[in-house]
Amino acid sequence: MNIKLTLKTLKELKSDIKLIFVKDVKKLSKDNQKILKKVSFNTSGFDTYFDAQSNVFYQACEILKKEDLKLAASSAIRAISKLNIKSVKLDLVQGNKELNIQDLVEGFVLGKYSFTKYKSKEKKEKNISLTICINSSKLSEKELNKQLQDTLTITSSVNMVRDIVNTPPEDYFPQTMANSAKQIAKDNDLEFKVHGEKYLLENGMNAMFNVGRASRHESKLIHLTYKPKEPKGKIVLVGKGLTYDSGGLSLKSGADMVSMKCDKSGGSAVLGVMNTLKDLGCEYEVHGIVGAVENMIGGDAYKPDDVLKAKNGKTIEVRNTDAEGRLVLADCLCYAQDEISDIDYIFDYATLTGACIVALGNQTIGTMGHSEKLKTKMQKAANTSGELIGLLPFNRYLPPMLKSGIADIVNSTTSRAAGSITPGLFLDNFIKKENKKKWLHLDIAGAAYAESPWGYNSFGGTGAGVRLTLDFIKNLNK
Ligand code: BES
Ligand code: ZN
Ligand code: ZN
Repeated sequence: MNIKLTLKTLKELKSDIKLIFVKDVKKLSKDNQKILKKVSFNTSGFDTYFDAQSNVFYQACEILKKEDLKLAASSAIRAISKLNIKSVKLDLVQGNKELNIQDLVEGFVLGKYSFTKYKSKEKKEKNISLTICINSSKLSEKELNKQLQDTLTITSSVNMVRDIVNTPPEDYFPQTMANSAKQIAKDNDLEFKVHGEKYLLENGMNAMFNVGRASRHESKLIHLTYKPKEPKGKIVLVGKGLTYDSGGLSLKSGADMVSMKCDKSGGSAVLGVMNTLKDLGCEYEVHGIVGAVENMIGGDAYKPDDVLKAKNGKTIEVRNTDAEGRLVLADCLCYAQDEISDIDYIFDYATLTGACIVALGNQTIGTMGHSEKLKTKMQKAANTSGELIGLLPFNRYLPPMLKSGIADIVNSTTSRAAGSITPGLFLDNFIKKENKKKWLHLDIAGAAYAESPWGYNSFGGTGAGVRLTLDFIKNLNK
């Protein structure tokens, strides 16, 4: 989709169709009212109607801002994509109200996305050009153009994350993830490091190493760094990049295994954020660390009953090889804190637990940490970005659930109680004292992958975490 701004009036513009957002039918011209009354157009909900005679596309939207506007823009572009149309024009000021260009464009670009790479008969993606008339806007063309470009940077990165998550495991494995990271580094002038299994073994990263042992694909530890000239602070993002999670010897059931290509969503979100920082002019130093691993079965697989020593020396009793993400993250978190000093914020992103979906549903990111202040900051970023988070509380009575008879801790508790929080507390074992209040664990198991479409997400990867994190960083300046 090609989106541009113009100072011309709507009348001066030649386009196949005109898009109108309808908040209240009564406020439209008499002609428009007549057309919509005939089809019983309803403004509650996101009704659409295309009048082929006047070439006007009507999109209902009762609240013309934030999520409602994004959903309306998404609904409109999806319906328009089904028509045989090449160009659309619309006014940024609808009725007397100026629409927020960022919300509008976010809705268009994220709503238009679909993953068709593996469809042999799919028609070629129709390229729709969209022209937004800004002549009656209160903002300058320069300001609006900056907002447009920033939004396109963010939404194209979200769509890149969706592409990565949707790519099948046969075509996307740890080396592929390292290749993506290398390309992102090249495009954005980032520092790029990748370590293989030899490095993991030499540096005591046995937890991560063991998870990938039975795979024919070598595990990769990826480290990207964005450094502006005078950084205002340091942010570390760590992502679970399980390019496939079969469960290992504690094998998943046939049904549960389907969609486990999504287990790389955390790492993919980290790559998505790293891909935007240069273009957005981020003023913070940001590190992106991804543990890219495939969890498989075989004669060389790690086993329940194994005891693994992580990079910080803690020993872990493996009780379930399907609780692998926390093992990978444990070592990645240690690596991050050993390599990077004076961290201001450290966040991890992981499709960690099915229990998070049970607790919060398929849209909400489970958010855990020790600092109420930091959780509130993240909640604010959720509110501005439109991503949904739910806070899951730690308490003093839960850590004993991780006790092991043979090692320091178990990787999986016997009880299902607090099924998302105990894994969060497992990770806490790998957070240094000085970083406790700087850390948040984000369980994106539900939000990262849409088993059925919702909002402006089509089936598959959603890109969860990217907009949330970028808004968190943006709000730091406020
Ligand atoms: N990758 C899964 C969690 C998951 C489940 C992500 C559903 C997305 C959708 C994780 O590695 C896992 O298998 N967790 C187990 C933990 C259990 C063995 C303690 C789970 O949630 O069942
Ligand atoms: Zn698993
Ligand atoms: Zn997993």
